[in-house]
Amino acid sequence: MARALLCVDRLSKAYAGRTVLDAVSLSVASGEVVAVLGASGAGKTTLFRCIAGLAAIDAGSVHLDDTPLQALRGRALAAARRDIGLVFQQHNLVRRLDALDNVLAGRLGRVPAWRVILRRFAGADLSRAVAALDRVGLIEHAHQRADTLSGGQQQRVAIARVLAQESRIILADEPVASLDPVTAAATLALLRGLARERGIGVLCNLHQVDLALGHADRIVGLAGGRIVVDAQPGTFDGAARTRVFGDLPDAPIPAPVTDRSGAVLH
Ligand SMILES: Nc1ncnc2c1ncn2[C@@H]1O[C@H](COP(=O)(O)OP(=O)(O)OP(=O)(O)O)[C@@H](O)[C@H]1O
Ligand SMILES: [Mg+2]
Repeated sequence: MARALLCVDRLSKAYAGRTVLDAVSLSVASGEVVAVLGASGAGKTTLFRCIAGLAAIDAGSVHLDDTPLQALRGRALAAARRDIGLVFQQHNLVRRLDALDNVLAGRLGRVPAWRVILRRFAGADLSRAVAALDRVGLIEHAHQRADTLSGGQQQRVAIARVLAQESRIILADEPVASLDPVTAAATLALLRGLARERGIGVLCNLHQVDLALGHADRIVGLAGGRIVVDAQPGTFDGAARTRVFGDLPDAPIPAPVTDRSGAVLH
């Protein structure tokens, strides 16, 4: 097993005195896809925000390789942040820019700001962005405005952007929540392929257990801000599901539809 690229150790976070994450520990190795499962409000997004440095943590640590992110300042912190690529459910892209410009934006942290302002990207930046778009199968949409792309295409542009950014870890917060089942599976297969091919570690929040079981190497279950499961997909059984989601109520029996006279229609 490759050594852990990302290591979260006893991370805790509270908002207004209310604990949201309670001593959360998990790791992601190079080339590994780890799915985080949890009910709404379990703390998944907060965990991602803490790892990405978008929210301060109260206790514990986040290490990338052997470097504790909390200890970094200035350029070293900026460099570490580039190593962590974010793919979120929505609001991923600059709507009025085309696909290629959105991917080039992934190079922002890697090139001086004046080059961006003058649109003087080095040839190498442009070819990286084009190669990233090609890798996700969207080269023919390079000059299409982001807000005219389908949801699945937009997610692939967001993935191309973190590829162009040369991130070593991808944090994907419900990247397929708004996609149809086929596109969702294809998007997760793409993430998994990139993990394998480039040694990127992927940490991915999902609501759907079946998608996690089908695409992740490991499942981490979060409930009430605590890790309650850390398992291979093959060992994620009914008991593990209950630990994560609680006892699911039986599906309600739909009431019959009647017309005004009370006759049952269907
Ligand atoms: N900035 C904040 N200020 C106060 N409370 C917050 C803040 N962000 C999150 N919370 C609270 O932390 C808890 C966990 O929220 P979080 O968004 O991490 O859940 P989640 O697991 O991502 O849920 P969902 O599946 O619905 O996206 C919730 O009770 C939420 O209200
Ligand atoms: Mg969330």
